[in-house]
Amino acid sequence: MLEVGKIKIDSAILAPMAGFTDSAFRLLCRKHGAGLVVTEMVSAKALCFKDKKTAELLRYCEDERPLAIQLFGSEPDCMAEAAKLLMPYKPDIIDVNMGCPVPKIAGNGCGSSLLKNHKLAGQIVSALVKAVDVPISVKMRIGWDKESICAAEFARVLEDNGAAFITVHGRTRDQYYQPPTNLDAIAAVSRAVNIPVVANGDVASAQDARKMKAHTGCDLVMIGRAALGNPFIFNELKCAENGESYTPPTFYKRMDVVKELCRLECENKGERLAMLELRRHLPFFFKGIRGAADIRRRCCAVSTKDELDEIIIDVTALYEESKEG
Ligand SMILES: Cc1cc2nc3c(=O)[nH]c(=O)nc-3n(C[C@H](O)[C@H](O)[C@H](O)COP(=O)(O)O)c2cc1C
Repeated sequence: MLEVGKIKIDSAILAPMAGFTDSAFRLLCRKHGAGLVVTEMVSAKALCFKDKKTAELLRYCEDERPLAIQLFGSEPDCMAEAAKLLMPYKPDIIDVNMGCPVPKIAGNGCGSSLLKNHKLAGQIVSALVKAVDVPISVKMRIGWDKESICAAEFARVLEDNGAAFITVHGRTRDQYYQPPTNLDAIAAVSRAVNIPVVANGDVASAQDARKMKAHTGCDLVMIGRAALGNPFIFNELKCAENGESYTPPTFYKRMDVVKELCRLECENKGERLAMLELRRHLPFFFKGIRGAADIRRRCCAVSTKDELDEIIIDVTALYEESKEG
């Protein structure tokens, strides 16, 4: 359990994942036990320029709470202005992205490039803390490359400037998503700061979460890719924490969740856009079904709800055949 101001986060956090963690997917993860959900990253600059696409990224529903909105940017004043503009959305937490490795973001002084400028990172946190009365958290990596691992010093700067908690993705920027996750570097952050630390990187089961906690001394874990196609993972972790046995969802339950995701996406975005979102999610839900290569190809081109219903019927037939065979 992690208490941040008035917010209680009672279990693993769903990681922000651009292109995946929209309102519909976040709601599913909350329903299956995520303790906090985080929006996809939102550009502070775009928010200040009242960009229309940004408004779409900020769509959420009350049942997702507690909800963190993630901002990225490199200018303290602009970040503070953006945070004020977020106030009508009533975020429970504002999270700052100091980990994104992609050149479009890091090349502009945002995301992981802040790992190379501790002073500016501190100024951003300080400006946000002064601007709004909402807890400010930071999601960081452990350094730019393996020669410059700086997680503990960097985290101390964030703490000194008022961060409420820190999430550490245990990789350098240069690693992108390559293994391994450096648990020692996360542990060094836990020892270096007095604010809560959330550990992130390759947690894909209750056992991984237990190992992560034991090794790093973190307060909570955050789960990203392992939640794709498997929002149930949060429930798995919750059961383990409470000493309860966990029954993985049946194939049919997984298909019900696909239908629910489809319904939520259609409600939020309309059928055309919803199907574009689903094209990204479906391969994760159909992973591990033998003979589903053709189905996966159809998923990548699905454009109506009826087509998706047909795919689900065909996947179900494949599944039943494989059970018989
Ligand atoms: C497709 C994708 C999009 C991501 N988008 C964001 C993002 O918007 N903000 C962020 O802080 N991290 C982002 N991340 C990083 C994840 O939040 C997380 O730190 C990373 O995937 C490691 O955790 P995992 O091993 O549990 O997946 C993204 C990762 C992926 C795979």
